Amino acid sequence: MTASEKADSLRLRKGGRPIAALTTYDYPTARLLDECGVDLLLVGDSLGMVVLGFPDTTHVTLDHMLHHVAAVARAKPQALVVGDLPIHTYDTPEDALRTAQRLVEAGAEAVKLEGGIRQAEKVRTITAAGIPVIGHLGMLPQRVLEEGGYRKKGKTPEQADAIREGAEALIDAGVSAIVFESIVPATAKLLSESLAVPTIGIGCGEHTCDGEIAVVTDLLGSYPWFVPPFAKPEADLAETIRGAAHRYISRVGNG
Ligand code: KIV
Repeated sequence: MTASEKADSLRLRKGGRPIAALTTYDYPTARLLDECGVDLLLVGDSLGMVVLGFPDTTHVTLDHMLHHVAAVARAKPQALVVGDLPIHTYDTPEDALRTAQRLVEAGAEAVKLEGGIRQAEKVRTITAAGIPVIGHLGMLPQRVLEEGGYRKKGKTPEQADAIREGAEALIDAGVSAIVFESIVPATAKLLSESLAVPTIGIGCGEHTCDGEIAVVTDLLGSYPWFVPPFAKPEADLAETIRGAAHRYISRVGNG
């Protein structure tokens, strides 16, 4: 399937089988997740925190993203490979298009950017060039410093209306789906029921959106130093790694 066909089939999942999406940053993880049938692999700028050791996503550069998008793309996933546009690489529509094209050259099939009405022109410019775009509303990690932390969104009718306006502007500009991050469950559900494209939730409660996305290290338990309250680990790789390392050290020492 071409990138556009994959993005169209994602869009058609509205109201149908829920979308299962995960972040991923390297070849072996992408290949394993793809073998399991994950629908969308996001090379998210969470890369900065859970792989590169920065305190937040504002340190991520386009070079970081290109390196990791290329690694994931080498796994030739069936899933749609989406690359995040890093902070300050899409300040104008021209910059946004240039950055999106660089990510596509590295192997991304679609790109994701954060924000609503202010980003609509950029989404229009990128989609007009044939590159599918995913939106991102609610808590926007690239604004964490301005906001002074990670806060829940959509708590009041006014906040919910602002998210809806942003979503409608993005949809009008051509997004294939929208990530909802840390929007209170009632608002996420209400908005998801009425928007024309699939919503993919993280930190919005279960079954409130058309699908879910998780940061893969939260799912695998491989980044134990910070686990968001909404994470639901299915493995404890940190303990598996520590156990293997201890056994290796003993084996070498005993040898
Ligand atoms: O970068 C990322 O991992 C993301 C997810 C939180 C959706 O944008």
